[in-house]
Amino acid sequence: MMARAIGLVQLKGGAGRSTIATNLAGELARFHDVLLLDCDMPQGTSASWAALRKQAGRGTRLTFDTVYDAAELAEKIERRADQTGYVILDGAPRLTELSRAILSCSDLCLVPVGASAAELWATSHLFGMIAEVNKVRPVVACLVWTRFRAHTQIARKLSEAAAAALSIPALKSRLGYRVAYTEALGRGLTAAELGDRDARLEIVGLVAEIRRLMRYDLRMR
Ligand SMILES: Nc1ncnc2c1ncn2[C@@H]1O[C@H](COP(=O)(O)OP(=O)(O)OP(=O)(O)O)[C@@H](O)[C@H]1O
Ligand SMILES: [Mg+2]
Repeated sequence: MMARAIGLVQLKGGAGRSTIATNLAGELARFHDVLLLDCDMPQGTSASWAALRKQAGRGTRLTFDTVYDAAELAEKIERRADQTGYVILDGAPRLTELSRAILSCSDLCLVPVGASAAELWATSHLFGMIAEVNKVRPVVACLVWTRFRAHTQIARKLSEAAAAALSIPALKSRLGYRVAYTEALGRGLTAAELGDRDARLEIVGLVAEIRRLMRYDLRMR
C-alpha cells in the first residue's frame, strides 16, 4: 500500500511545524510504520528529535531521514513508500522548489498558525504556491491552530478572521500553549509521552482527526 504523506508547511519561521511533525510522527508510530523526513536542513529539528528518540530506544516503528531538495524528496518517498504507513514531511519556511514539492506530494498539508497575526499574514503567501500546485494536482490543506489560548480575545478574533478571510479550513483539533511541547521536542519525546495530560488529549485528538480525514474524506485521491 502506498504511504499517506502529511506535509507541514508554513512560511513563517517558528510557527510550530517541527512540533507538530514530531508529535504526529511519534503518536502515529504507535500504530503504523512512519517515515519522518526532515526537509528543513541544515536546521534539522525533526532529524535531531528523531535521533534522540532512537538513542533512547524508543519508537522502533519510526524511521527518519533528511532531505535537501525536491529531487531527493521524490527519490526518498519513491524508495520507501510501499514499506511505510505514513510519511511526515517537516518543511522549511521558504518559498522554494522543495516547499512546492512537499505541497505536491502530500495527501494532506497542514499549515500551523500560532495565535499571531504574523503567521496569518505569512499564510497568505503560501496560497499563491498552493494555487499553482492546484493546477497540476489538487492540494488538500488545513490550518492547525497551535499555541492557542482558547479563552483569550486575540485567539478568538484571529480564528474568526481566519475563517472569514482564508480559503482553507482549519482542523477542529488545536494545540494549546504548553511548556510540554517545548520540553518534549528537546527530549525526543511527544508531549503525550511526557505525561502532560492536556497535551496528550490534544495530540491523541489531532491524530484521530487526521486519520479520520485521511480514511474517509481523502479516499478518492
Ligand atoms: N503549542 C506550543 N506551545 C508552546 N510552545 C510551542 C508550541 N508549538 C511550538 N512551540 C515552541 O515554539 C518554538 C518553535 O516551534 P517549532 O520548532 O515547532 O516551529 P518551526 O515552525 O518548526 O520553526 P523553525 O522555523 O525553527 O523550523 C519551539 O521552541 C517550540 O517548542
Ligand atoms: Mg522546524
